[in-house]
Amino acid sequence: MFNDNVINRFRGLETPFYYYDLDLLRRTLAACSQASGKYGFHVHYAMKANFDGQVLKTIQSYGFGADCVSGNEVLTALKYGFDKNKVVFAGVGKSDKEIKASLDADIFCFNVESVQEMEVINELAAARGKKPRIAIRINPNVDAHTHHYITTGLDENKFGINTWQLNDVAEQLRKSANLEFIGIHFHVGSQITDMEVFKSLCMRINEIQTWFEDRGFTIKVLNAGGGLGVDYYSPDNNNVADFESYFKVFHDFLNVKPGQEVHFELGRVLVAQSSALVSRVLYVKNGQRKNFLVLDAGMTELIRPMLYQAYHQIDNLSRSPENVIDAVKYDVVGPICESTDCFRKDVELPQSYRGDIIAVRTAGAYGQVMASGYNLRDSIQSVYSE
Ligand code: LLP
Repeated sequence: MFNDNVINRFRGLETPFYYYDLDLLRRTLAACSQASGKYGFHVHYAMKANFDGQVLKTIQSYGFGADCVSGNEVLTALKYGFDKNKVVFAGVGKSDKEIKASLDADIFCFNVESVQEMEVINELAAARGKKPRIAIRINPNVDAHTHHYITTGLDENKFGINTWQLNDVAEQLRKSANLEFIGIHFHVGSQITDMEVFKSLCMRINEIQTWFEDRGFTIKVLNAGGGLGVDYYSPDNNNVADFESYFKVFHDFLNVKPGQEVHFELGRVLVAQSSALVSRVLYVKNGQRKNFLVLDAGMTELIRPMLYQAYHQIDNLSRSPENVIDAVKYDVVGPICESTDCFRKDVELPQSYRGDIIAVRTAGAYGQVMASGYNLRDSIQSVYSE
C-alpha cells in the first residue's frame, strides 16, 4: 500500500487524512465480482461501511447494487449512479419520511424488520398507489461469534423478526394488498471470519424458506446479508479477502430453487483494507512506566478501537521497519479529552519522533463514516492514490 513515492507525497500533506488505495479497492471489487459471478449471486454494497464519493463511484462502476440503511443513503446511492433496481432499503427504524422517499424512488426492495413496519409501508404505498417489493428480515438466532456489539442475529438483538412471530408475518402478508412479498433476508453480524457461521446460516435459511413454501408463499430472493470479515492483523499479506471460499459455502449449503436469486450485502470486506488513517506524531511523552505517542488523529476519526476494542495495525511510515534496532513500546493515543482515546496500548514501533507519519491500517470500513465533530474537531480530507 505504501511505497517510497506514496510516503514522500504524504510528507507534503496536512494530516490527518484518510488515504485510499483505489487500485487495491478495484482488485478487491474484481475478486468479489468474479467469485460471486461464478454462481450468479448478486452483491449489494452495504454503503454504511463507507460512503466516500470516489469509493461509491468505483464500486458502482463494477455493477454492484447498494444496501442502504437510511433515506439519505438511498438518495446518495441513486446520486452516484447505482441502478434503482439494485437498491435495497434495510434498517430497524425507517421513518415515514424515509419510506416515502424510497417509494417515490421506486427502489428494488424494502427489507422489513417488524410486522408493524409492514403495516406502515403498506399504508404509505396505498396512499401513493404503489406496490413495493418487500423482503422480510428474519432473525435466525445464529451466533456470529464476533464482538457482541456487532452481533445482530441473536434473539436478544433488536434486528429482524423472530421466528416465533412468523405466523403474524404470514397473516399480515395476506392482508397487505399493497406489498409484493419477494423474499427473506438475514444478517447475523459483522467481521465474521469463521465459515461455519455462514454454513449454520444456510441451514437456517433453508428451514425458514420451507416454512414459507409450506404455507403457499413463493420466495424469489434469498438475501444472506453481509458480515464477511477481513484480516486486521495482516493487512499486507491478506489485503484481498477469500471471496471464493465465502461464496462457495452458500453454493454448497443453500437450497436454491430454480429461478431464485441469491443476494448479499457486503460492506466491510469490500472497503476495509483499501484505506488507512494517516496521522502525524504531535508529541512523544516518555513516562516512568509508559511511553505515549500522541497523534493528531483520534477517536473522532476512527472510533473502532475505542468502541469495539478493535485491533488495527499501526505503522510508523517515517522509520523503515527493516532495520529496527530500537523498538519501543508506546501507547498510541489521540488528542481527544477522553481516556478511552487510545488506538492501542504497548504497540511495538521503531523509536519515534515528533512529526513522524503514522498509518492506522484497515480503516476503510466504519472509519470515516463514523467520524464525529467531538471537541469541535475539523472534518478531515480524503487523499487518493495516483
Ligand atoms: N446488512 C445489514 C443488515 C447490516 O446491518 C450490515 C452491517 C451489513 C449488511 C454490512 O455488514 P458488513 O459486511 O460490513 O459486516 N461499525 C461496526 C460494524 C457495524 C455493522 C453494521 N451492520 C464496526 O466498525 O465493526
